[in-house]
Amino acid sequence: MRKKIVAGNWKMNKTLQEGTELGESINNYLKKHNPGQVEPVLCTPSIHLAAVTDIVDNNIIKTGAQNCSEKESGAYTGEISASMIKSAGATYVILGHSERRSYFMEDDDLLYNKTITALKNELKVIFCCGEVLKERENQNHFQIVRRQLETGLFNITDQQFLNVVIAYEPVWAIGTGVTATSQQAQEMHHFIRGLVEEKYGNTIAEDTTILYGGSCNAGNADELFSLPDVDGGLIGGASLKSDDFCKIIGSF
Ligand code: 13P
Repeated sequence: MRKKIVAGNWKMNKTLQEGTELGESINNYLKKHNPGQVEPVLCTPSIHLAAVTDIVDNNIIKTGAQNCSEKESGAYTGEISASMIKSAGATYVILGHSERRSYFMEDDDLLYNKTITALKNELKVIFCCGEVLKERENQNHFQIVRRQLETGLFNITDQQFLNVVIAYEPVWAIGTGVTATSQQAQEMHHFIRGLVEEKYGNTIAEDTTILYGGSCNAGNADELFSLPDVDGGLIGGASLKSDDFCKIIGSF
């Protein structure tokens, strides 16, 4: 069965105190209003992970990091390893977010190595892909997403792929208030599922969770989540307010 997920990507927002308050508030709401089939995930700044994981009911809410090192451990000042993230109680790590790709020069090869390291350490990976505006205007969006997935992700085994969630985030929709239309989202999600099928076969493709991200909010989530190949969302700005995030979770 394909899992439905609503993941909040807090990015570099909230102090530790604000973050634990947000986690607590989301937790209190969801304990009263069971999210049912939907798995809510809070991808907090790494320094908040242990505290937020401790404060939420892990039977209802999972937590995740927003990045990890491709290295296991050692003299890499400032880096955070997959095993540290795992030991803080997290379940997930986001890899390949467009902000990591563009501001921190993370390329497909590096992301492949990060994916392998994360999976080895028993983290589930939310692997992001998506085109910039110019690439869509030039009709290159399918080609770009194909390259990102084939080079950055698809060399892992079938068994490893079972612990991967794909997030399609058109870069032009991130933080802009411009959401992909239903047609654009469904078309790309269907294309991505087709790529997974080519590589891993029909059963795995049907079971793969593909999230949409990019200006998804409490007002448009129900329309996006009703699309046949959209299995939830990766939410930025709207995940920073408990009411909005809980409303998005309730949109299925
Ligand atoms: P916004 O929801 O703020 O557009 O951000 C989306 C995103 O980048 C989630 O990873």
